[in-house]
Amino acid sequence: MTSKLLLLPGDGIGPEILAEAEKLLACLQADFGMGFECERGLIGGCAIDATGRPLPDETVSLARAADAVLLGAVGGPKWDQGPPALRPERGLLGIRKALGLYANLRPALLFPELASASTLKSEVVAGLDILIIRELTGGIYFGEPRGVDTLPDGSREGRNTMVYGEAEIERIGRTGFDIARRRGRRLCSVDKANVLETSQLWREVMTRLAAEYPDVELSHMYVDNAAMQLVRAPKQFDVVVTENLFGDILSDCAAMLTGSIGMLPSASLNETGFGLYEPVHGSAPDIAGQHKANPLATLLSVAMLLRYSLGQQDTADRVERAVGSVLRQGLRTRDIAVTGDTLVSTTMMGDAVVAALRADV
Ligand code: IPM
Ligand code: MG
Repeated sequence: MTSKLLLLPGDGIGPEILAEAEKLLACLQADFGMGFECERGLIGGCAIDATGRPLPDETVSLARAADAVLLGAVGGPKWDQGPPALRPERGLLGIRKALGLYANLRPALLFPELASASTLKSEVVAGLDILIIRELTGGIYFGEPRGVDTLPDGSREGRNTMVYGEAEIERIGRTGFDIARRRGRRLCSVDKANVLETSQLWREVMTRLAAEYPDVELSHMYVDNAAMQLVRAPKQFDVVVTENLFGDILSDCAAMLTGSIGMLPSASLNETGFGLYEPVHGSAPDIAGQHKANPLATLLSVAMLLRYSLGQQDTADRVERAVGSVLRQGLRTRDIAVTGDTLVSTTMMGDAVVAALRADV
């Protein structure tokens, strides 16, 4: 069977890390009997340069025709001064919205070899395996009205709106419960119900859903406390479900527990299970083109793609094992290195993962 993939390298380190993913895909074709037909598309700053828009219609059509999308990263200082509608990030937000990718899964899993790379004490993070489920197409990211207005007195006022419909909350809530059911059966819903009406509704809906999932233990936590608990005792969490902006912030926080944001993959799924996969980290313009970027988050995103979009559980496990194996060999890109480690380039890391995968056949 041949799977159609859309590759969206984007900006900054995006092209470098996607090149490593392509190596991995080539290996899966050559040695594991899989078939891929890859198209490439434009998104973010490179799309602005080529077409004047961060998300060309063609990219959305290519995505719709694909079985899954693999994205690198978008953004960079070159485009930071542009008007809001012409920022690279709008491309990313646009494709999430256009494809209805409401469920963003961000696992924070600590490879034991990286316990010392975390800024937290190893005993706090050893064995960490949590999953943050972030609502991705609603909330303050998309709510109207939004904008900056000039008031009669000449001063300006900025405005964004956090809005959640009941059905939207229920949909992501069900994703949370369904996934918790397949993991440790503990779901923590994060909100700010002591202040925000959207959160009060969120909490009410989650509580109502809990009755349908008696096998899952639901708890609620305010987002400020959740940020604190994540760095105090992160292993208390199994699955966390939260709204868009809270999830954006908490997932960066959770990323650091694992040693580096350069290790974290993500999947963004719609109601049909169609998915876009991307590393959680950004385009890192400061190191772009220097062969320093860590490709592991992207390779782990390929593993998620295999698992969620192509149903290739076994191959996904193998890719994750191969990543574990290169870490055991002591190979480190700069972001996950501690003194004494062997520093490798982006391509060396990608080659090592492919070699480990081959060795595990
Ligand atoms: C993320 C990023 C994006 C977001 C940016 C680049 C628009 O931070 O995927 O977490 O805020 O969602
Ligand atoms: Mg973010």
